[in-house]
Amino acid sequence: MTADLVKDAAVIELRDIKETSELRAVEDLQQEVWGCSDREILPGLALRPLLEIGAVLLGAFSGTEMVGFVLGLPGLESGRAILHSDMLAVKAEYRSHGVGYKLKLRQREQALAKGIDRITWTFDPLQSRNAYLNFAKLGVTADRYKINYYGETSSFLHSTGTDRLWVTWELKTDRVRQRLEHGPNQRELLRVAEAPTMVQVGEHNAPVLSGYSGADSSVIEIPIGIDSLVETDPRLALRWREATRTAFTSAIDAGLVVEDFFRLERMEQPAGVYLLSKEGVISRNRTISGKMPMP
Ligand SMILES: CC(C)(COP(=O)(O)OP(=O)(O)OC[C@H]1O[C@@H](n2cnc3c(N)ncnc32)[C@H](O)[C@@H]1OP(=O)(O)O)[C@@H](O)C(=O)NCCC(=O)NCCS
Repeated sequence: MTADLVKDAAVIELRDIKETSELRAVEDLQQEVWGCSDREILPGLALRPLLEIGAVLLGAFSGTEMVGFVLGLPGLESGRAILHSDMLAVKAEYRSHGVGYKLKLRQREQALAKGIDRITWTFDPLQSRNAYLNFAKLGVTADRYKINYYGETSSFLHSTGTDRLWVTWELKTDRVRQRLEHGPNQRELLRVAEAPTMVQVGEHNAPVLSGYSGADSSVIEIPIGIDSLVETDPRLALRWREATRTAFTSAIDAGLVVEDFFRLERMEQPAGVYLLSKEGVISRNRTISGKMPMP
């Protein structure tokens, strides 16, 4: 089997993690993926009781090697049972081969089997790969922005702070089913072209911030490779954090919801673009449940 074939999501096996040795492998993978200290990982011992009370812990295996995992914790949101997906991780050399997507699909199946139809999680909005997976491929939406959610940590992924978008995956809506069946919705790109831009990728990959215009839709652009920017120009990476924090918080305070994410070209460089709007998603979710989604 060639190295490429091994990394193909089709030959990756997913299964529930139960064995103590596998819980230890989850500890190792946390340290490898986030590069954080011992006290900043969720220990295998703490995972054991969580599995007894409804947590969903799935591993992705290439042979006997665990190359990824996803952890969902049972929780309540406004009195409604949810799964909160606390961690999704794939080894660097296995990324962009559909492993993360496969783990999320299996997590969705297991949540539905437990009678849960909403999964929430957080992610760093400057990470374009995560944004593309979450919005374009899975169909989440986000109506909350958390400033420096985890505070300071030792992780190399957290050097611009730990701001997070809180996303909601409404598992049974038309919107989500369509994404899973047909993939990203490129037709929405028309709306991106028409909406005012709150943050733009400007010259030399620098952010250009404009205030919120009061429009019903807006877009926020990000550079495609924040991790390499952190290495080559950490001050510029921090400016991206500040500009996008200002834009997301003012748009969400004004009632906009982060609805989608696209990959485009800006200033002859690849860029990512968030689409935010006041209605779109909300009306589409309503078509399934017959009522507004809970806040
Ligand atoms: C987030 C993560 C789990 C994704 O796993 P993955 O296996 O690479 O995800 P997938 O391959 O299923 O999906 C990624 C998609 O983004 C695309 N992508 C890759 N790089 C990208 C980039 N820089 N910008 C936008 N999209 C990108 C991929 O091509 C793929 O889309 P496709 O299947 O249509 O080709 C992985 O990157 C990771 O472990 N990151 C570090 C930890 C982390 O951030 N976890 C999530 C928060 S808890």
